[in-house]
Amino acid sequence: MGDILKMNRMMIIGTGSALPERVLANSDLEKMVDTSDEWITSRSGIKTRHIAAKGEETSKLSTAAAMKALEMANIGAEDLDMIIVGTITSEISMPSCACLVQKNIGAVNAFAFDINSACCGFLYGLDIAEKYIKTNPDMHVLVIGAENLSARVNWQDRNTCVLFGDGAGAAVVSGSSSGRGMIGGRMYSDGRLHKLLWMNSAPSMNPALAIPDHDGSYIKMAGRDVFKYAVRALSQAVTDVLDQEGFDLADVNIVVPHQANIRILKSLADRLDIPLEKLYINVYKYGNTSAASIPIALDEANRAGLLPEGEMILLCAFGGGFTWGASLLRW
Ligand code: COA
Repeated sequence: MGDILKMNRMMIIGTGSALPERVLANSDLEKMVDTSDEWITSRSGIKTRHIAAKGEETSKLSTAAAMKALEMANIGAEDLDMIIVGTITSEISMPSCACLVQKNIGAVNAFAFDINSACCGFLYGLDIAEKYIKTNPDMHVLVIGAENLSARVNWQDRNTCVLFGDGAGAAVVSGSSSGRGMIGGRMYSDGRLHKLLWMNSAPSMNPALAIPDHDGSYIKMAGRDVFKYAVRALSQAVTDVLDQEGFDLADVNIVVPHQANIRILKSLADRLDIPLEKLYINVYKYGNTSAASIPIALDEANRAGLLPEGEMILLCAFGGGFTWGASLLRW
């Protein structure tokens, strides 16, 4: 607990999440593609995922999650100084999803922007917010991870469509001198591996810049390679952030990882030599919601009373880019 003496940490003071109403079960997918509940469950751990309908676009889910986080933080939208949304599936390209959220909640004093770092969007967002808050602890920042991946998967491709879901999670953060808050983070990218997990943009309107043989703006993935890299990268990030901050895994009370796949999480726990029970897992309910998965899990764990004050929480994520990272927090 020596870290407790450090001042001006970025602390999460409110969390919120929102999920589309419609739930798609593995048995529903059996009627859509050549798959089975047994295959999906044994390969991914996923049983159901939420699928957005009209009125549940990324900015709308983000807004709903943000309102809940603001309510818990007990501040008004006008108290926000900055809004960051991690997303790769905003319903429009310009303006940012963050600007739509700003408008929807009335955060008239904030500046707002999106970041594209796939499943690491929320972690990268927290990391950026922390740098601002370190120099100005009075700031209030809204960090959101939100996705509508169901709009961007190929529903004929059984290799990908069974794995993803929609949703949004949010956190309101501010400065604290109590010793609680973010201890440190380590973020990484390796763009050389981008063709292992990627998604085209919409076809170009400029013929000179059009991608030849554009085959749709769907998520494409080399599943086995992604699996291998994910386990290695996640364990590296976890080990590095602990080394950097002078802690070890025994000091960590709960790991809230990106929820991609139960087999990745089991392999991660094995590699780190920690019991699976130390990981908060909800992938079976929501599938892989990319940038939304960590803030949804955090909010769920928070509201269930699973994050007692003073406990050490470790967040870690891996996704397209590749991007990966880990953050350590004193709750
Ligand atoms: N239902 C039934 N069969 C399926 C299927 C589905 N939904 N999807 C793929 N298959 C088939 C494949 O076509 C293949 O058949 P074949 O041997 O006749 O060609 C077979 O199952 C095995 O495919 P393979 O890709 O080797 O399976 P796997 O054991 O590697 O599992 C993943 C596939 C995608 C579940 C696994 O690789 C994985 O979890 N990767 C990481 C994915 C991920 O989390 N990505 C996001 C990271 S942020």
